[in-house]
Amino acid sequence: MIPQDFIQSLLGRVDIVDVIDRHVRLKKAGTNYKACCPFHNEKTPSFNVSPSKQFYHCFGCGAHGNAIGFVMEYSGLTYPDAIRELAQQAGMEVPEVRGNLPGRPAAAQAKGLVDRMMEALNYYRAELKKTPEAIEYLKRRGLSGEIAARYGLGYAPDAWQSLKGVFADYESAEMKETGLVIDSEAGEAHGAEPAKKARRYDRFRGRVMFPILDSRGNVIGFGGRVIGDGEPKYLNSPETPLFEKGRELYGLWQARRAIRDANLVIVVEGYMDVVALAQHGVENAVATLGTATTPMHVAKLLRLADSVVYCFDGDAAGRRAAWKALEVSLPVLADGKSVAFLFLPPEDDPDTFVRRVGKEAFLGALAEAKPLSQFLVSEIASKVDMRSEEGRARFLAQAKPLVSQIEAPALGAMIRKRLAELAGLDPAELPGYLPPRDSGRPRPAPAARVIRRAHSLEAQILQRVLRKPDLARSVDPDLVSDGSPEGRALHAALAFAREGDSGLTLGQVIAHFEGSEHAAALEAAIRGGSILDEVPEDDLDLAAELAGLQDKLGHQRADRRKAELEARHMEGGLTEAEQAELASLTARQAASKGVNSALELPPKQ
Ligand code: UTP
Ligand code: MN
Repeated sequence: MIPQDFIQSLLGRVDIVDVIDRHVRLKKAGTNYKACCPFHNEKTPSFNVSPSKQFYHCFGCGAHGNAIGFVMEYSGLTYPDAIRELAQQAGMEVPEVRGNLPGRPAAAQAKGLVDRMMEALNYYRAELKKTPEAIEYLKRRGLSGEIAARYGLGYAPDAWQSLKGVFADYESAEMKETGLVIDSEAGEAHGAEPAKKARRYDRFRGRVMFPILDSRGNVIGFGGRVIGDGEPKYLNSPETPLFEKGRELYGLWQARRAIRDANLVIVVEGYMDVVALAQHGVENAVATLGTATTPMHVAKLLRLADSVVYCFDGDAAGRRAAWKALEVSLPVLADGKSVAFLFLPPEDDPDTFVRRVGKEAFLGALAEAKPLSQFLVSEIASKVDMRSEEGRARFLAQAKPLVSQIEAPALGAMIRKRLAELAGLDPAELPGYLPPRDSGRPRPAPAARVIRRAHSLEAQILQRVLRKPDLARSVDPDLVSDGSPEGRALHAALAFAREGDSGLTLGQVIAHFEGSEHAAALEAAIRGGSILDEVPEDDLDLAAELAGLQDKLGHQRADRRKAELEARHMEGGLTEAEQAELASLTARQAASKGVNSALELPPKQ
């Protein structure tokens, strides 16, 4: 582990403009710098770097972060390695300490989980080397040692508690959180049978192990396959604080660079499909993790590449999965992005197909993949009788709810035109096929829209504090409720900003909360706020906004307290002091109502 103090002073020393300019030619634009984004393909620059914030943000693909984040993304390094790389450039020596740091329990705990997963991975990999049966199985499936190493494949021995030898605290609560162990239920005594004691055992036994990595290269989960036949065929890590299935994609870490180079990502269903494709030199494939494709997946993938090709099994289940993927892709589509489907012969999955036909033929088939628009039209047309008017009317009725979700203007228009042609109508005669909103207005990028959340006052304050961390000093932490993730993150951010010197940058704030329980809330605030707007030294607007938000927070808090006191008052449980408090709250509320009453509707008679 690298001490947080060091990371902070490193970020105080390096300039993100230099760091990025080494790889991407930056041009000055006002107080910021601009370039064409290195993380997606574009012709006009939407990649911005702010020297005062020490932060970059691409308005095209949403990529953003501090100097460490840039090095990680650009060079495909892990967090610590990116720090080492930056330190070397800055001529600083990285002090390393072992174990948990005091003072950051949440982050340390999250780190503890990551370390444990890594330790398990190393163990499983070492066990694979010792297990000829497992090696033989992988060889039989056509995998080389090199590919097995690249994907970190391992083997979990066929024993109940083999991890006990790896983790001294096998029985701890933290171990339970990794998902690597399962607790059997305690049973009550039954007649002659004694009571059963709860017992802990390894989740994965006698299985070939596929580690699942997050976009930083941390192990967050495992999939384990039985050797040969057996049920269940695959066993997966449960959802844990580290692992959220609907968000992660298997193989993304290994495929990152190939996806960027090809500007195309292939989505398959199985672990083995990803690994087998890589074995045959097709390195830009990822798999959903035993779940249907989610909008989050699609948004993530379309940020990485302009084209997504779904290549599912050739059987009926594969076709159903493809249709589901089509449905979740519709609202996320944008002009300039393409989504297509490669349908394999019914007896194949991508693994058997690529092994049978080889790389070139696979790439050939990929180039012929069916565009989403065609799949949509042909699939619906195949279910009705297109020769009759009634059939064509049904065709239109079934297409309508799907097509109306497409917000990409050009693609939507073309599909509507095609539908109209097939139905023998003029496109103008297709009512209700447009997205429900006024389509002339610019909309937020689709990816951002999918994950947008309601904005609480705490979230709004957090956004402003991140835009200018020095303003944290003007926010009263006592007003901030810690009942929500945003509230807790705001509390933590306020404390952090207060304890240091002024001039704290956004880049440093992000580094401080890296890997902590607040990281997600901060991330959401960054996505939701106009984070890169330059804020002048004496920005009165921003200060006034913050004051206004704090005011509202105060009212909200008073309203809640009043409601609580009133409820208890009904039951006659208030002390004298509380009664006085309630009276003053009521008076204050009445006073502020009085001020605003001119704006309110007259009371109902
Ligand atoms: P498949 O059955 O298509 O797996 O399931 P596969 O990758 O082709 O497996 P091989 O070739 O028989 O080894 C696709 C995915 O569904 C999930 C896994 O993520 C798997 O990779 N799955 C499948 C499970 O989680 N559990 C199962 O029992 C089966
Ligand atoms: Mn398979």
